[in-house]
Amino acid sequence: MVNLTKKTLRVSKIKDGTVIDHITGGHALDVIKILRITGRVNGVVTVAMNVPSKTLGVKDMVKIEGRELKSEEVDKIALLAPRATINIIRNYKVTDKQRVKLPKVIREIVRCANPACISNSTEPVLPTFYVDNEEPLRLRCHYCASIMEKQDILKQF
Ligand code: CTP
Ligand code: ZN
Repeated sequence: MVNLTKKTLRVSKIKDGTVIDHITGGHALDVIKILRITGRVNGVVTVAMNVPSKTLGVKDMVKIEGRELKSEEVDKIALLAPRATINIIRNYKVTDKQRVKLPKVIREIVRCANPACISNSTEPVLPTFYVDNEEPLRLRCHYCASIMEKQDILKQF
């Protein structure tokens, strides 16, 4: 018999892999998209949404068994969830915990939405943006000064 009055852990612990915690509420599925998780590959993936959090009100969480993240993936997550923490789990223990960092200048991982921007031409220039504001996100193109918001960036992931 399951004791429904007993307080239980909402999602179970993982053995080896990555826990992305403190994701801004509503963005778990965007993180899944950034990581190109389709559900048709091996490995357990647990998604929790709207979990009560002392610091964030509500948060989302993504747990991925048997996988660690590339730095480009972490940088993309930082754009959408600047307070996320990346926990590396080995043999059930948290062996590393890092908060994502949104740098002042973003290069390469985002394209300018202005089709006339030189960064979208055949010229050899790297897309470059300044972070004008973290939350809500506002990026400003170095070349044409176009403003990119979260919705514009999500379309590219
Ligand atoms: N976690 C997990 N599997 C493990 C160990 C931890 O899924 N084997 C999860 C925990 O549920 C938590 C996150 O990884 O969501 C970080 O674990 P821990 O550092 O133990 O939790 P907190 O101290 O609450 O983390 P923080 O201080 O970052 O809020
Ligand atoms: Zn531009």
